[in-house]
Amino acid sequence: MRSSHLKTALTTAALSILALPAFADDISFATSNRSAGENIVVYVGEALNLPTQMGGDISDAVESAMDASEFKGAFGISKTFYGLGGAKSVTVIGTGGETLTRRDLHDLGGHAAKAPGKGELSIIVEGLQTQSNTPSAELALGYRLGEYRFDTYKTGDQPEDRDVIFISDDTAASDDLMEADYEGLADAVDMVRDLGNAPGLDIYPQSFVDRVRKEARGIPNLKISVMGVREMEREGMGAILGVGKGSVHDPRLLVLEYMGGGSNDAPLALVGKGITFDTGGISLKPNTGQWLMKSDLSGAAAVAGTLISTAKRGADINLVGVMPLAENMPDGKAIRPGDVLATYQGKTIEVMSTDAEGRLLLVDAVPYTIEKYEPELIVDIATLTGSAGRALGDEYAALITRDFELAQTMMDIGDRSGEDVWPLPLHANHYDQIKSDIADIKSTAGSPGASIGAAVIGTFVDEDQPWVHLDIAGVDWRDSATPTAPKGHAGWGVRFMDQLIRDYEGK
Ligand code: BES
Ligand code: MN
Ligand code: ZN
Repeated sequence: MRSSHLKTALTTAALSILALPAFADDISFATSNRSAGENIVVYVGEALNLPTQMGGDISDAVESAMDASEFKGAFGISKTFYGLGGAKSVTVIGTGGETLTRRDLHDLGGHAAKAPGKGELSIIVEGLQTQSNTPSAELALGYRLGEYRFDTYKTGDQPEDRDVIFISDDTAASDDLMEADYEGLADAVDMVRDLGNAPGLDIYPQSFVDRVRKEARGIPNLKISVMGVREMEREGMGAILGVGKGSVHDPRLLVLEYMGGGSNDAPLALVGKGITFDTGGISLKPNTGQWLMKSDLSGAAAVAGTLISTAKRGADINLVGVMPLAENMPDGKAIRPGDVLATYQGKTIEVMSTDAEGRLLLVDAVPYTIEKYEPELIVDIATLTGSAGRALGDEYAALITRDFELAQTMMDIGDRSGEDVWPLPLHANHYDQIKSDIADIKSTAGSPGASIGAAVIGTFVDEDQPWVHLDIAGVDWRDSATPTAPKGHAGWGVRFMDQLIRDYEGK
């Protein structure tokens, strides 16, 4: 089966491989459903008390094993014991001594996904110190986020799905929440990771659109529309069109509109950079690490995922997602350094480096979105600059906004969502640095930082328009796993934007 999918992948049809349902263990919730010979996960705080659900014999054995292995119950530390009290394996996961937040529960669920054991896995949820009424659902969401792997291009047998049963007394509520909400959220993150991990050979503007269209089909109140070259020409989107000129794959502008709120409510708008492969264009990148530029569509993918999961759960909000998509290639037809492009809004921009292509997509897409939708808040999300990653590493996305209060709100949202953001500055002098000798502005300045990138976009956003810029170049791809994100594409942004939407929804 799998090798035949691979053959299709290597020819033309990226669709068929990317439409494969993502691997996912089967999750259910039960008050008690213990069977002999199973694999068990159990959460244990620093007091090292085992839940009564475990049963006496096995608890005694696990207690001795915890003692002998000096297990202390520290948060996120786990140990697996085999063959105790009739169980195949017992994995104890420490929960520490603090009250567990929702984010903590997601991490603890992610740890459970790494527990060994084939077939059946019972996760005992009892006595957790948390304010959540649905700890099992939070753990299950974390489990789903943590179990992801990308094996689309691997031939041979892959590990089989297992049956995961959360044993708890919040069964009904957690089951409902998982089904109506979190399942869709986890599926969306899976989709984003698939898009970011998949090779540039298979993901290009139109195949990106096709995958999203497939996922969006049949969801109530979600409308999809796509602009091709002709439509973008008519709209005067010279910058997006310029970026796409060197590729055999034409650019697209993908728009998802979800109208789940009141008909007069201003929407939230999300705009994501979608470079399906970034060679740098004529300003060609060096070879080292260039393969990673297959994931330069992370912003657009996160926007697509967020729109789909928000619509699936039927959120009470109006939301629009705008995704400019292009491939940045060197070619006889490609734009050159020094070229001047006319943008959607009318201002001209001098292209100093064709490798600063992300901001070119955004200087068309952001003002288009503001003009067309008059959003309450516009968030743009982009793998824009290597400098964001160098400044903040892989735990914080760079956050740039002109409004300090908004920055604090975003940091709080990041903290609660499990995807952190940290502010970088945008100074009036940054705008001075991008004055051009021959055009209205130029695309880069002496210092190639994240702030300059933001200033280019900010030139097209009025002072009174609430606007947040997220530079995710440091966080979208991970060299090592976290409890809730694998090595490779992290799917960064869906959880952050999901939390943002939940907060705005409650207003
Ligand atoms: N896609 C890159 C940014 C990037 C770098 C993402 C590393 C992920 C990892 C972007 O298009 C780019 O090339 N930025 C340049 C801008 C410069 C030419 C002003 C950069 O950061 O070097
Ligand atoms: Mn680039
Ligand atoms: Zn790029």
